[in-house]
Amino acid sequence: VSPELQQMHEAHNLLRKFYHHLLVNTKDGQQALEYLLNRGFTMESIEKFQIGYSLNSWDFVCKFLQKRKFPLEIMERAGLVIRREKDNSFFDRFRNRIMFPIFDRKGNPIAFSGRALGDDDPKYLNSPETAIFNKSKILYNFQMARPHIKKLQKAVLFEGFADVISADRAGVENGLATMGTSLTEEHVALIRKNTDSVTVCYDSDQAGIEAANRALEMLTQAGCQVRVAWMPDNLDPDDYIKQYSEEKFRNEVIESSLTYMGFKMRYLRRGKRLNDEGDRLLYIEEVLKEISNLSKAVERDHYLRQLAAEFSLSLEALKQQQKQVYFSKE
Ligand code: GTP
Ligand code: MN
Ligand code: MN
Ligand code: MN
Ligand code: MN
Repeated sequence: VSPELQQMHEAHNLLRKFYHHLLVNTKDGQQALEYLLNRGFTMESIEKFQIGYSLNSWDFVCKFLQKRKFPLEIMERAGLVIRREKDNSFFDRFRNRIMFPIFDRKGNPIAFSGRALGDDDPKYLNSPETAIFNKSKILYNFQMARPHIKKLQKAVLFEGFADVISADRAGVENGLATMGTSLTEEHVALIRKNTDSVTVCYDSDQAGIEAANRALEMLTQAGCQVRVAWMPDNLDPDDYIKQYSEEKFRNEVIESSLTYMGFKMRYLRRGKRLNDEGDRLLYIEEVLKEISNLSKAVERDHYLRQLAAEFSLSLEALKQQQKQVYFSKE
């Protein structure tokens, strides 16, 4: 490892400890701590995830790093400080935010995500891409979830850090999240190396459902058995656990997640009025297309029969139509 990378790692590790200290032990961090506790975070998860707080200051981190002989040019490339155009001076990137350290596979902190305490924009501020941090490869909580993923032979994929942390508190310790970006092929490969079974548990709002559909496709393509959780009222997992309970989250969200076709049928149904003839025919056609894509003959047969029963159609007609759908695709 080059001395520069070494310094980047060391600076992240020192700041991780310092941000955490500020949150849990100081008056400056009190408001942030109260915010977290009010949201339902526990001291236990604050410790486990090494959550911290960055001071409301423009130069605290600059001075902190300088005093410890870290060249600020290198700290800029590490994403911790920012250079001012006008006079080449530096200022702290993260100010007055809840700090979530991001760890690499070996457990070294390599980046931060900072959440605003209120409605500040942006809600989450992430470290930029650096020599030690590549968003498209990093999954939040990977280093702690990995043994659980191996043991259970199952991973759960979330949208946000808060979801991973709340699920962990609820006993779902095999949770991962992307860095606020969409899932990449590199993420998929990393998951696939550890298990072939994944539950996608994104927010159940419009954006989350669309993203879940894309994740479902990518993970299925990679050979994973995928299930998708779908919560009521557009909730996200963190909100759901608060509003209902940890037990309900485990049993009625994670354990009751939808299969590939279960999700597709619910997904395709959205916004359609199935008592409207046009919508109904469109729905049947779209579901038929999904059924044609299934690799297992038994599954295709099962869902064809289900569709026939639901809409009082003959299996013959569905099979006939399926052939047309299939050939018109080629
Ligand atoms: P909370 O409001 O703290 O519960 O966060 P959330 O995880 O529910 O946030 P949301 O569902 O809005 O977004 C999901 C994930 O997208 C977050 O965990 C972040 O990683 C990312 N994200 C959300 N807002 C922003 C933003 O303003 N900037 C960036 N870079 N990422 C964001
Ligand atoms: Mn501590
Ligand atoms: Mn969301
Ligand atoms: Mn959310
Ligand atoms: Mn949330």
